[in-house]
Amino acid sequence: LVLVVDYGAQYAQLIARRVREAHVYSEIVPSSMPVAQMLARRPKAIILSGGPSSVYVEHAPRTDPALFDAGVPVFGICYGFQSMALALGGEVAHTGGSEFGRTALSATGSGVLLHGLPQAQQVWMSHGDAVTRPPAGFVVTAATAGAPVAAFEDVARGLAGVQFHPEVLHTEHGQTVLRRFLHDVAGLRPSWTEANIIDDQVDAIRAQIGGKQVVCGLSGGVDSAVAAALVQRAVGDQLTCVFVDHGLLREGEAEQVERDFVAATGVKLKVVDATDQFLAALAGVSDPEQKRKIIGREFIRCFEAAAREIVAEGEAVEFLVQGTLYPDVVESGGGTGTANIKSHHNVGGLPDDLQFALVEPLRTLFKDEVRRVGEQLGLPADMVWRQPFPGPGLGIRIVGAVTADRLDILRRADAIARAELSAAGLDRDIWQCPVVLLADVRSVGVQGDGRTYGHPVVLRPVSSEDAMTADWTRVPYEVLETISTRITNEVREVNRVVLDVTSKPPGTIEWE
Ligand code: XMP
Repeated sequence: LVLVVDYGAQYAQLIARRVREAHVYSEIVPSSMPVAQMLARRPKAIILSGGPSSVYVEHAPRTDPALFDAGVPVFGICYGFQSMALALGGEVAHTGGSEFGRTALSATGSGVLLHGLPQAQQVWMSHGDAVTRPPAGFVVTAATAGAPVAAFEDVARGLAGVQFHPEVLHTEHGQTVLRRFLHDVAGLRPSWTEANIIDDQVDAIRAQIGGKQVVCGLSGGVDSAVAAALVQRAVGDQLTCVFVDHGLLREGEAEQVERDFVAATGVKLKVVDATDQFLAALAGVSDPEQKRKIIGREFIRCFEAAAREIVAEGEAVEFLVQGTLYPDVVESGGGTGTANIKSHHNVGGLPDDLQFALVEPLRTLFKDEVRRVGEQLGLPADMVWRQPFPGPGLGIRIVGAVTADRLDILRRADAIARAELSAAGLDRDIWQCPVVLLADVRSVGVQGDGRTYGHPVVLRPVSSEDAMTADWTRVPYEVLETISTRITNEVREVNRVVLDVTSKPPGTIEWE
């Protein structure tokens, strides 16, 4: 276990991910956690993250020098680097040499971290203060124009740090530097692999569930599928999956769950076809938040009814699987296991008389790890690499009231856009590409010899790391042309295809 101490940088999660990419397990803890508590977790190494503050502002989080007395290797990054320097008796000053963004770094010594890397390299910087004198015993191994001490190390004590951000992709050799610390300075073995994750989880799930019954709601998304597959591997037929088909899915998605997922896992599946129920509940509703509430409510009703049926058929169901991911755990303030968990949008708010204990096999995993575990478990690639799709589905991609006809139009247009983006090899560049039907807007067109009065659809391709911010993806014109031509030719009701070129913020990813 490597602990990443979060000094309030937006980079802590990224650091934790990069550590895991070096095949070493890591978790994030807040900088307010007392050192004794950190050490009680028996970490093999500790990484101090960057942070927004200057070490000199009032209430700036400090690093307790006791951290360095325990013989645990420590790596400081940016703010963590400065705070480490101060705690160990070095000097940090406001030199006026701020550096933000891409910066040229020169190696000045033959340390372990930068060993064998080019003498000059590009790194990503974001700092106002700089270390001006390293603590006693440290060798300075790199400098930049604004930071005379840009990297230092005391390998004998297992301590090292860098002013730049090794975790961001703009730092050319960042991952190598991080690996050098983990493997060469801290002496950690790369043992965090998909196979080990699966073995550990399977053991943990068996221990938790024993011989009891468990249910899992499948949404068609990656998280619930991988969580279910893990539980299935652990306890086999004690698991029953429930798939509520609300009729708001895209083309092929229900089949993917009902056919491909079952074939890949052998899971026991209960399908609830609730299309009519959802459409009836949504009739005449145009307001997006209203739609979300209705879809959420109907979903819970269906899931609850299915769970009651399972209970009525046999033994009591005591466990419910949820696909909670590590970022949700961190963001709800609970790195330590007892956190209040963000309720799953699909099954949150189950009634009190249906009491389940939660099984959360993805609680320690990042999304990319979930995908690799899914692949390793033999799930269909289409499902594992699926782009995010909102729980309320196409219901919030029809601007106007949701009807069966409108869903049919949107489903056909969406299928064409997805097929062409995939054919162009753009799936991994695009975070997601909502296709939105402006159902209450009509536009005049001409097709053949006749005037048409149809609907526009909007293409919303976005690139993003985490959906919190996003930019519109520069999809090549030829691909856009093919999509536009195919949609207007093949989907008679649509006579205009428009492209959304708004970043987030100010736009959200979805239109509703
Ligand atoms: P926005 O539109 O807020 O979307 O930029 C951010 C991400 O969240 C997804 N999204 C939802 N997911 N229920 C969900 O499960 C919802 O009501 C919902 N609304 C948006 C959206 O697809 C994007 O990935």
